[in-house]
Formats: sequence, C-alpha cells, structure tokens
Amino acid sequence: MADDRAEYVLEMLGIYKSFPGVQALDDVSLHVRPGKVHALMGENGAGKSTLMKCLFGIYREDGGEIILKGRLAKFHSAKDALEAGVSMIHQELSNVPERSVRENIWLGREPLHRFGPITFLNHGKMHRDTAALMKRLEMNIDPADRMGGLSISKQQACEIAKAVSYEASIVVMDEPSSSLTETETEHLFRIIRDLTARGVAVIYISHKMSEIFQIADDVSVMRDGKMLGTWPASELDEDKLIKLMVGRDNTQRFPTVDSEIGELRLEVRGLTSAESRSFKDVSFDLRRGEILGIGGLVGAQRTELVEAIFGLRKTSCGEILVNGKRAVIRSPRDAIRHGIGLITEDRRGSGIFPLLSVTENTAVASLGSYIRGGLLLEHRRIEAEARRFNEQLRTKTPSMWTQIQNLSGGNQQKVLVSRWLMTLPEILIMDEPTRGIDVGAKFEIYTIMAELARNGKSIIMVSSEMHELLGMSHRVMVLCAGRHTGTLEGPEASQENVMRLATQFE
Ligand SMILES: Nc1ncnc2c1ncn2[C@@H]1O[C@H](COP(=O)(O)OP(=O)(O)OP(=O)(O)O)[C@@H](O)[C@H]1O
Ligand SMILES: [Mg+2]
Repeated sequence: MADDRAEYVLEMLGIYKSFPGVQALDDVSLHVRPGKVHALMGENGAGKSTLMKCLFGIYREDGGEIILKGRLAKFHSAKDALEAGVSMIHQELSNVPERSVRENIWLGREPLHRFGPITFLNHGKMHRDTAALMKRLEMNIDPADRMGGLSISKQQACEIAKAVSYEASIVVMDEPSSSLTETETEHLFRIIRDLTARGVAVIYISHKMSEIFQIADDVSVMRDGKMLGTWPASELDEDKLIKLMVGRDNTQRFPTVDSEIGELRLEVRGLTSAESRSFKDVSFDLRRGEILGIGGLVGAQRTELVEAIFGLRKTSCGEILVNGKRAVIRSPRDAIRHGIGLITEDRRGSGIFPLLSVTENTAVASLGSYIRGGLLLEHRRIEAEARRFNEQLRTKTPSMWTQIQNLSGGNQQKVLVSRWLMTLPEILIMDEPTRGIDVGAKFEIYTIMAELARNGKSIIMVSSEMHELLGMSHRVMVLCAGRHTGTLEGPEASQENVMRLATQFE
C-alpha cells in the first residue's frame, strides 16, 4: 500500500541543490503520507534542513520536482509555501524579539479592521485569536508578553504555536525539541498527535534517537546529501538507525573515562545568586581529572549556577577557590584568566558571529595567546590551531574561511565547542554540550572530554540527557529549585536517584 502514489500528500522527486563547494542535495526523493509523522534523520550536514528549505521556498532547488497533493508545486518564497499549506518550525529561532507574542504569531497576516477607506490592525482580534490558540495547545503564554523576554523554551513553544496556527496540511519541524525539557517535549508530542489525527503530515527532524521511536511512523535517512531510503519505524531500532546514519558499525555510545583523579582544583562554597529566585547556598568541589555532571529539571538553576561561576551573573554571597586560592570572578574575562571556559547552552543566540569565518569563530576567545610583540597576530598559527580542533570534532565545512552561517546547525555548534577547547582551559564547563549534535559527533565530544580529563583537566557538564550524565560523569550533582539536593557516585548514580533528587521539592 505504501507505493500507491495517491496516498502521498507530498512527493519530492530527484531534488538537487549545491552551494559553493558543496553538493548539499544529490538526487534526493522523499514521499510523505498524510496523517503520519515522518522522521528525517542524518548526521550534521547531511542535508536535512536544506531539503526542507527547498520545500518551503527559502532555497530554489537546482533540479527536481515537488508535488503537493498531486499537483506540481513551485514556491518562490515562504509565503507561497504557507499559502499552499506547508508550514515550518525552523532550526534557528526566527522571531522578532522586540515584538509581542501575538504580533509575532500573526506577523505578515495581521487581521485588519476596515472603516471605509481606512484600515488598521485589529489588535483585539489578534489578542483573542492568540489566546484561543494558546488555550487549544495548552500553552501558558500571555499573548501580550514581549517575545525577547521569554525563555528559549517558551519562544520555541511560540514557534510551534505559530506553525500550527496556519492550519497547514504539512508541518515541518526542524529540531523543535532541542531546547525543550522532557515534559515540554511530551507536550509537543501531544500536539503532534493531535495534528496527525486531523490528517496533517508532520516531518520531524531530531538528533534525539529515542524521540524518533516514540513519535515516528516512517523514517527516512540521509547521508552526505543522498537519500538512503525510507523505513517504517517499526522495522528499525536505535542500533540499526545509527548504523544507517553514520555508515559504520560503531554503536558504542561512551568511551571509557579512565582519568586519574587528583588534587582539588575548584571549590565552590555557599554560592548564592544575587537574584531572589535563583540558586542558593550551593557548595561543591571539583578535582583534577574529574568530570562532574550536573543534573536537574528545567528551573533547577543549573545554567544560572555555571554562568555565575563564569562571571556572567552576580552573586550575593559565597566564594570560589581555584587551586586553593580565593578567586574573584566578576566577568568572563576574570574567569578565563583563572583557566575557566564555558560552552554556553544558548549557542545559537549568544555564541555565533554569523558573518565571520569558521577560523575566526573558533579563535575569537583565545586571540590573547597569539599576540607577539604587542600587536602582531600569528595568523598562520591561529588558523592551524583552529583547524586542528575542528578536525578533531570533524566539523563539516567547505573551508576554514567559510562564513559560519553557511554551516549546518550542528556543525556551527562543533565550531563553538572548538572555540573553548582552543582556549586550553583547566576547568571546562559545558552546558548541554551535545544538544543538536548527531550521534557520531556526540561520541567524538565524549572522547575529547575523556581525553581532557586524562590530561588532568577538570570538567563540569550540565546535561538533561540522563544517559550522558550517567555515562560520562565520575560524580553527578543534582540541583532542584536552585538548591543542591545531593551528589551521587558509583552505583548510587542511577536514573531513579537522580530523578528523586531532582524532584525533591515538588
Ligand atoms: N546557505 C548555505 N551556503 C553554503 N552552504 C550551505 C548553506 N546551507 C547549507 N549548506 C551546506 O549544505 C550542507 C547540508 O547542510 P544542512 O543544513 O542541510 O544539514 P543538516 O542535515 O540540516 O545538518 P544539522 O543536523 O547539523 O542541522 C552542509 O555541508 C552545509 O555546510
Ligand atoms: Mg539542520
């Protein structure tokens, strides 16, 4: 039955697309059934977002055909696609931070009032329709709130609401869950099930393997710009899927962490945020060669804590000791001077200089160590070092001088990981280090973490992925509502115990 053409709401046939130096899509075909969830899988840079941008009229394909509900479709812009019933949640947040939630949702199709020859925006309707939409989707977001003031996950929820509001017959979701918590993701899945029950087809892109098996009906796998094929999700399992994606038989998830734990490197004593509802009285130690995981639910204030240690947030009391000496850290510059590096959670928002090259984006935090004679930057050495770290992580880029904005989402993140590795920090803090990164590259990042630890570096890893938290950490410290509720080690460090400590005050 799957080969009955009338059964497809969308067919993309023999699509080609190239960029300077890259054949991003090479004869790619995709068949999507109505009322089903179709997962699109592949490593970073495989071509998933490019294929969807061709569908959505953002890129014009070099060749091939797009057939929507049996009719040849030619979209010249996202507006054409939306009018034809295709909506998309982008991998990058694409809202207007200064505007309200309701303005963002109705942007470009605002309801109008007409009084004779005069038209003006119907704010009342915009507000009511947004409120109704939020209610239907069970989202607790005020239509009048300023978009930029919302948390990343709420902004993501607004993007989801916006995509749903078009009442499209195909909704493309390019990594919609990458900044959502587990509960929020379950909520998203309820929305997806509601959509498919109404006959909508959902094309779902995610690097979170377990999600695919929860939600997908069909799974298509891309590798290096080519489509390998489509399988019913019921015929695949995680190992088979990983093997298809990476094209090799390496399904080992974590390297062995066999570093030697040495002397105390970082001591945090009674650290309390200057903000009232943030972390309070947090103490912990970190030793040489150690990987300390920090677990907890959203709202546990893990990011706030590590940002404070890195000098990005104010504290009201408590102290930080580095190598036994009191360290005054009021800015990231102070932190870097004390040998601390932070790979932030919100890499897309704060980390990237889109117009600068891969080399520049990698080197920007370590330029200070490449100055000779006061002014002269050692360009050759900078490029060589930047290249070395990106090669270690297998960043896929046409060249080291390509603008970072032209890299796929996951590859941009690898560049930012390289940036902090290049500062050669003694203490590396990683906030959700593998978010949005494909399975193969995850393993590479874990391997680098293990190697850093073996070389005597100390690592703090904030992670919401239970497997990596337990798989990579010597000890797991858990926060709940800004309080340190416990630290687990050895056989104690189990999923149940982490969850118990993470929900202690709920
Ligand atoms: N605007 C662009 N200019 C130049 N190259 C591009 C552009 N957009 C994408 N590419 C290249 O096309 C290839 C496919 O990228 P794409 O973004 O489709 O990957 P992806 O499968 O979505 O990866 P990820 O999982 O990392 O998001 C990559 O090699 C990327 O560098
Ligand atoms: Mg992508």
